[in-house]
Amino acid sequence: MRIVKFIAPLCAATMMFAAGDAFLNKNASLYTDASEGSALGELIVSSPVKELSKSGDFTEVEFVGFMPEGSTIAYEKTGILMVGFEAKNASAYKILGQKKDEYDTVWLNVSVKGFVKSDALGSDKAKILANGKALFQGKCGACHPIHAEDEFEPNVWPSIIDAMGVQAGLSKAEKFSIEKYLQNFQK
Ligand code: HEC
Repeated sequence: MRIVKFIAPLCAATMMFAAGDAFLNKNASLYTDASEGSALGELIVSSPVKELSKSGDFTEVEFVGFMPEGSTIAYEKTGILMVGFEAKNASAYKILGQKKDEYDTVWLNVSVKGFVKSDALGSDKAKILANGKALFQGKCGACHPIHAEDEFEPNVWPSIIDAMGVQAGLSKAEKFSIEKYLQNFQK
């Protein structure tokens, strides 16, 4: 299912900011406990999380986001396709609430808690996005002039980055780093 097609027209007025006191500085597995045993899924670079406790090399965190009903991918905000967490299974989430948007898509307000390696967390979101900017400038101007950051809406960039990621041979980490930079870009 290509979600982008039917929620792309949603405007920024529906944005809701999730609270968080740390940000992922790279994509990182979220584990059920403070070991690399069993992963619930992957937290995506620049997503906000709340730090709950420390345990050795791990930090227990909570990500609160929004997920179209039937999906396993939770976004940072309703209506904006900024990936926050990719769950292996929808049962990883606790459902906090739900609402319907004007296209009759039911958005679940979800929470997922688990443990990440502490070195995957940072406090400076601007610095994290600057890594994405450097990658964008380094990887996206080889075949054509670099496109402007504001040429496309935040909901349009993911499908372009999916296509160009193949052209540019991007890893998943590089892809999300560039995607999040472009989606967070503000003039
Ligand atoms: C290997 C060459 C190559 C690289 C590297 C590359 N592109 Fe492209 N790009 C193309 C070609 C060829 C087209 C035109 C045909 C197409 O749309 O597939 C294009 C088109 C585009 C368009 C126009 C799409 C549209 O619908 O108007 C955008 C935007 C774009 N690229 C962004 C990027 C970004 C961002 C990156 C870095 C992740 C990137 N490109 C890396 C080859 C490349």
